[in-house]
Amino acid sequence: MYYENELKALKKSGRLRSREVVNTSVLDFASNDYLGLSHNKELHNTTCLELSKLPLHSSKASLLVNGYHQIHQDFERALCKANGFEDAVVLGSGFCANIALIESLVRKGDILFMDEKYHASGVLASQLTHVEVVFFKHNTMWELEELFKKYPRAKRKIVAVEGIYSMDGDVVDKKVFAICEKENALLIVDEAHSSGVVGDRLMGVFDLYNIEVKPNHIKMGTLGKAYGSFGAYILASAHIIEYLINRAKPIIYATSLSLYDTLLGHKGFEYILENAQILKGKIHKRQSLVKDILNINMDGLILPVVINDNTKVIEIKNELLALGLHVGAIRKPTVSKAIIRVIARLGETEEDFKILCEKLKRYR
Ligand SMILES: Cc1ncc(COP(=O)(O)O)c(C=O)c1O
Repeated sequence: MYYENELKALKKSGRLRSREVVNTSVLDFASNDYLGLSHNKELHNTTCLELSKLPLHSSKASLLVNGYHQIHQDFERALCKANGFEDAVVLGSGFCANIALIESLVRKGDILFMDEKYHASGVLASQLTHVEVVFFKHNTMWELEELFKKYPRAKRKIVAVEGIYSMDGDVVDKKVFAICEKENALLIVDEAHSSGVVGDRLMGVFDLYNIEVKPNHIKMGTLGKAYGSFGAYILASAHIIEYLINRAKPIIYATSLSLYDTLLGHKGFEYILENAQILKGKIHKRQSLVKDILNINMDGLILPVVINDNTKVIEIKNELLALGLHVGAIRKPTVSKAIIRVIARLGETEEDFKILCEKLKRYR
């Protein structure tokens, strides 16, 4: 066995992971399918019907060879229009999007200023040898400002934050937009957990804070969460998108996003825009239930319950699973203190969510 010792060490520290086939007979309060669109058969059926009328149904090649289809372009244009950006590119996944952005945008002499709680895909990319990275304390804007002063030699300053943080569930401080503008820093906002969840039209934090899109803004979003599909998009100024399609390896050297995922993501996105008011009402209801029952302020639809014990979170998860309630158990090192991660998915009823919140009371 080549990795016996490593596996033993993981087991000993309570960090050994395994995958389990999903049980669809229990209630899902664990996935990132925030709005329940992954179960919307109308979106799936219309996607299949439209694809069946085309001469092909898979994307076949990289965007830069002959894998760029009308389906990709239509979605990119719709994303630009709704979000106020000049240009967009769709690609394989949010993980790839972070690698693409950081690997290609941070050049020699540039400095990347990254929130310490940024997603693992961004952190991984920041470890590439040509990338100089400085982490700042989670969502702490005065520290970011201090770091800008400490590193005046940066040729380009590039800041990376999340719209809503995947594990803590808190929304990014609005000040980051003003600070980056003042410093002429590029700002990457990973909206994996905020697009489809916050903002007047549910477009994410740019929408929430009513930010006028500027040339230094880069927005990344995933299709595998609120949009009920798979894949990702990057929105930015035309010249940055042009640069990315010329330099970002996950865009150049990979088959373009599947046509099914792109079209389904587009349909999910349209559904969100059309139903924003109703969805927002439901989201606010979930947030006020959490406030009333658990006295926790939830900025989006992520509810982290801190347990701080890698073994205990698994026990709690199993206890809840036995009651038909599926929640996430997130352990170190993914988080600094083990949490039960609950997603207040609109795919389950308010009544069932209320039952779960009542059960969670005893773990607080
Ligand atoms: C903040 C954040 N960014 C990026 C990703 C990766 O997105 P994807 O699942 O589309 O690869 C995730 C996934 O969990 C995430 O939480």
